Amino acid sequence: MTALLELDRITKRFGSVVVADGLSLAVGAGDIVGIVGPNGAGKTSLFGLIGGDLAPNSGEVRLEGRPVTRLDASARCRLGIGRTYQVPRPFVDMTVFENVLMAAQQGGGQRRRLSYARAAAVLERTGLGNDANVPAGRLGLLSRKRLEMARALATAPRLLLLDEVAGGLTDPEVAELVTIVTSVRDEGVAVLWIEHVLRALTASVPRLICLAGGSFIGDGAPAEVLAEPAVREVFLGTEVTTSLAGLAGEAAREDA
Ligand SMILES: Nc1ncnc2c1ncn2[C@@H]1O[C@H](COP(=O)(O)OP(=O)(O)OP(=O)(O)O)[C@@H](O)[C@H]1O
Ligand SMILES: [Mg+2]
Repeated sequence: MTALLELDRITKRFGSVVVADGLSLAVGAGDIVGIVGPNGAGKTSLFGLIGGDLAPNSGEVRLEGRPVTRLDASARCRLGIGRTYQVPRPFVDMTVFENVLMAAQQGGGQRRRLSYARAAAVLERTGLGNDANVPAGRLGLLSRKRLEMARALATAPRLLLLDEVAGGLTDPEVAELVTIVTSVRDEGVAVLWIEHVLRALTASVPRLICLAGGSFIGDGAPAEVLAEPAVREVFLGTEVTTSLAGLAGEAAREDA
C-alpha cells in the first residue's frame, strides 16, 4: 500500500548548513510520529519541506504516491497537509472564529456553508468555543496554541504537522492537547509532532524519530530511541550548547 506521506532522499542546505541530508521517511494514514532533536537540528525546516514553505535542493515529497515537491504551501494544504507554526501566526485583529473560518475557506478550499460549520466544530473541539469572538491578539499562551491547532484542523488535513504546540504549557494543559491530538489521529489523520516537551510525546506516540545533523539518528519506540547512545549524546549536548546554537540560528536567520 502506498504511504500517505513519503520523503525520498530530501536534501536541504542553507549555505553551508545542511538541515536535511538525504532524508527518507514513510508515514501511513493514522500514524502518529514524534520528532525530537536539538535546537537548530532542522525539525521546523523539515515541516517547511513537507508543507511547501521550503523547496529542497534535491529529493522528492510524495502524498499518496503523487509528487508534490513543486507545489506551493497553499496547494499542498488543499491536498490535505495542515500545519501549525512554532511561533503562532494568527491574524491578531481578527476574532478567533474569523481566523478559523479563514483557514477553513482558504486553506481547506471548502465551500462557504460547510466552512462555517467546520469552523464552529473545530472551535468546540479545541476548547475555544467561549473565545470565538475574542480578537486573536488578546489570547493567552494556551489559547494561542489551541488556535494554532484549530486553524490547522479547519483545513481538514489528512496529515497534520504540529510544531511545538506543548511548549510553555502546564502538565494538565499538555494532557488536554494530547487528548485532542489523539482524537484527531483516531479519525485516521496522520500526525507528525515536533516537541521538546518529551512527556507529551512519550505518552502519546508509538513511534519517535530523532533528527540531528541533517539525519535521522533514531527511529522506533520512544523508550528505545531515547535510550540509544547517539540520541542520548545529542540530548546531553544540547544542555551545554543550546544557547550557542540558538544564537547561531538567530544570526543565520538575520543573514538570510
Ligand atoms: N530560511 C532560513 N534561512 C537560513 N537558515 C535557516 C532558515 N531556516 C532555518 N535556518 C537554519 O537552519 C537550521 C535549522 O533550523 P530549524 O528552525 O529547522 O531548526 P529546529 O530543529 O526547528 O530548531 P528549534 O528546536 O530551535 O525549533 C538552523 O541553523 C537555522 O538557523
Ligand atoms: Mg523549530
